[in-house]
Amino acid sequence: MDNSAGIQPATLSALIALVREHTGIAMSDRKSVLLERRLRPRMLALDIGSYQAYVQKVRDDHAEVPHFIDLVTTNDTLFFRTQHVWDYVESEFLPRWWREHPGQTLTVWSAAASSGEELYSIAMLCDQFAALAPGFRYRILGTDISRQILAQARAGDYAGRSVERLLASHPDWVAKYFTARADGLQVVDALKRHVTLAQHNLLKPLRPPSPFTHQKFDLVFLRNVLFYFDQEHQQVVLQQVRHSMAPQARLILGESESMTGLDTAWQFERPLIYTLGSQP
Ligand SMILES: C[S@@+](CC[C@H](N)C(=O)[O-])C[C@H]1O[C@@H](n2cnc3c(N)ncnc32)[C@H](O)[C@@H]1O
Repeated sequence: MDNSAGIQPATLSALIALVREHTGIAMSDRKSVLLERRLRPRMLALDIGSYQAYVQKVRDDHAEVPHFIDLVTTNDTLFFRTQHVWDYVESEFLPRWWREHPGQTLTVWSAAASSGEELYSIAMLCDQFAALAPGFRYRILGTDISRQILAQARAGDYAGRSVERLLASHPDWVAKYFTARADGLQVVDALKRHVTLAQHNLLKPLRPPSPFTHQKFDLVFLRNVLFYFDQEHQQVVLQQVRHSMAPQARLILGESESMTGLDTAWQFERPLIYTLGSQP
């Protein structure tokens, strides 16, 4: 394989089109080096000698598409990312929801779950709340388009930066909700059993797996994923998400995302937090 060649302009356009087709992500041609770095190991493993030949492989071989998706998605995440959102969920959303829905089971969707830090952060908060609110029950659905990153979420093994931050900010919760591993921490089964993980493309309608079948979500985290899409796809994603939300549900976006400029049914509640208006 000739590593010095880089991706030729026509091949780069073809790759960017494939990324958009399979993930909805709008990549600019400035991502050429990133694509080279991510695709090269896979091409070596497959003994494919040119980017053009790899484009053809993704086009011709359906089995290659999940690998391609794993490589072109960016999965950065952290426990308790954007603290004020978690303060809101803990001190406002959960107490109010429980007052208004006594005896019901809260359903939460982490809609671009990545390796699971976000959904286990939700689970820890809910578990803490359950200690104060006897009878409170919750279930969390985590979805992502990348099967590889979902396998990491399923394992619940964490190390490095996300563990260091969590140990510094929530040492008591680390002791309660994780067991020590040789090279990091693993989420305890007591927390995992509230969580279901499933592969899902946000551009498509959600068919919630059991036990969420026929259910609408009370709280949806759609964080740090909208900004990968162009406006057209942002609209599609928001419409799809809307269909899966209960009346009075809350939608939470990522730190640098907003609905500004998007024609949607959402009403601003506070920065990053939206609710559905009276529309169906
Ligand atoms: C930067 S991570 C965000 C993780 C987490 N929500 C957070 O805010 O920390 C973005 C995730 O979106 C996923 N993603 C990208 N396109 C997607 C799509 N069309 N449908 C579902 N997930 C997608 C990626 O695989 C990646 O795991």
